[in-house]
Amino acid sequence: MWTGFPLFPEQASTMAGRVDALYIALVALAAFFSVLIACLVVGFAIKFRRRSPGEIGVPIHGNFTLEAVWTAVPLVIVTVVFLWSAEIFFSMARVPPQAMEIYVVGKRWMWKAQHLSGQREINELHVPVGVPVKLVLTSEDVIHSFYVPAFRIKKDAVPGRYATMWFQATKPGRYHLFCAEYCGTKHSGMIGWVEVMEPAAFQTWLTGGGTGSLAAEGQKIFQSLGCVTCHRADSQGRGPRLEGLFGRAVTLADGEEVVADADYVRESIVTPAAKVVAGYQPVMPTYQGLVSEEGLMQLIAYIQSLQEPAKGAPPAVAPREPGAAARTGARQP
Ligand code: CUA
Repeated sequence: MWTGFPLFPEQASTMAGRVDALYIALVALAAFFSVLIACLVVGFAIKFRRRSPGEIGVPIHGNFTLEAVWTAVPLVIVTVVFLWSAEIFFSMARVPPQAMEIYVVGKRWMWKAQHLSGQREINELHVPVGVPVKLVLTSEDVIHSFYVPAFRIKKDAVPGRYATMWFQATKPGRYHLFCAEYCGTKHSGMIGWVEVMEPAAFQTWLTGGGTGSLAAEGQKIFQSLGCVTCHRADSQGRGPRLEGLFGRAVTLADGEEVVADADYVRESIVTPAAKVVAGYQPVMPTYQGLVSEEGLMQLIAYIQSLQEPAKGAPPAVAPREPGAAARTGARQP
C-alpha cells in the first residue's frame, strides 16, 4: 500500500515489506503518543489553570491504579516491538543454507564483486530473481557499508574480516547500491547498481566471458605460492591437510576448538601464528600483503572446494565448484 508513496524506495526483496511494516508501526506508535501527550498537556493546562489569584491547588498523594496502568501498558508495547524486531533481525542474520554465494570487496571508492563461476564486476552486481543470495563482504582499506535501499539491507564491510549478508530479490530491475559509511573524498561516488535478472538471463550472463571459476583461480594462487608443498593431500606435509577442512571444527594447540570458516582460513593465511592447529609447529610464514583481498577470497573458495576423497578413490585433482548447485538456481527443474 505504501509502494507508491514517494518517501519510500521501491520494495524489491523479501525483507522490504517486513522492514517497512515495522518502521511504519514504530512511526505510528510514536506519533500516537506524541499527539496524546501534547493534547493532555494543553488540555490539563486549560482545565487546571488558576482561576483566582489566591487559589491553592489540591495536593495529590499518588494513585496505584494509574501507576500500574502506565507501567504495564508501555511494558506490553515495548515487548511486542522487541519480539517483532528481533524476529526480523534474526531472519536477516540467518543466511539460508542453499544461498548462492558472491564475494564483495569494498575499496576506496568502488565495489568489486566476484562470482563463484569466476565472473567479476565493478560497481555492478548481477543476481537472479527469486533466489537467496549471500554476500561475503570485506574491505581492502577502510570501513565501507553495502547498502541497497530497495532491498532494505545494509552491512558494514570491515577490513580484515568477513561479514555476511543475504537477500532474495523479488522483481527484476536495476536498484541503487550505495556506500553508507563515510570513507573519504569520493564516498558519495562509491555507488553502483544491483541488476536483478530472470534466472535464465542470469545464467546466460554468468557464462558470458570470465576466466576460470573462483576455486580454479584460487588453486592457481595456491600452487604459485607453493602452499601445496606443506599442505599435502597425503598427511605427510608440515601443515595440516586441507581436504574436507572447510566448515569442520579444528582443535588448536591450546586445546580450543574453532570452526574452519572463511574468517579462520583468512586469518590462517594472513597471520598463521594466531591459531596453530594442534600437532603442528608454527612454521608457516605470513602471506600478508602477498595476496590481495580478492586473491584471499579465491583461496577460500578453493579450500572450500577441497572435499575429502571417497574411500578407495584416487585423490581429487579438479576442484569441485562450491555452490554449483545453488548457481544453477533453485528455480531450475
Ligand atoms: Cu565507501 Cu563510503
